[in-house]
Amino acid sequence: MDGIVLLKEDHKTVEKLFKRFEKAGDKAHAEKRRIADQVIQELTTHTFIEEEIFYPASREAAPDTKDHILESVEEHHVVLWMLSELKDLDPADERFDAKMTVLIENVRHHVEEEEKEWFPQVRKAMGRNRLKELGDQMDAAKKKSPDDPLSVPSADS
Ligand SMILES: [Fe+2]
Ligand SMILES: [Fe+2]
Repeated sequence: MDGIVLLKEDHKTVEKLFKRFEKAGDKAHAEKRRIADQVIQELTTHTFIEEEIFYPASREAAPDTKDHILESVEEHHVVLWMLSELKDLDPADERFDAKMTVLIENVRHHVEEEEKEWFPQVRKAMGRNRLKELGDQMDAAKKKSPDDPLSVPSADS
């Protein structure tokens, strides 16, 4: 599969979870816990494959995207720390919904920048075969992703 298509599919999966979260009632603590756990898992894997494979390959193929990519890594950093806090936060805690809301805002902003500002440049620079190769590599790398958001490289720096 084309690497950018793969990443956009992940973005859609996460957006669906966000919508479900936003629709869940104030007292739907068990459901919100389940959705948050899926969000944590999806975003940990997604940021991992981007940082391990897609971001470095993009910087190499399209050096002009460097500043966008550096900014994206900083955004991952914030998101990963929020995920690690959500992992241990009781959904009945008054901070839980607020933290999820800010996470959702951050991720939506991040996805929009990836899809509108620099993925198109990368697509142009790479061409179809290279994107397909990266798609296969990222698909395989999903199995190697850590479960802990703080084990994704950008969480650390
Ligand atoms: Fe990203
Ligand atoms: Fe992404």
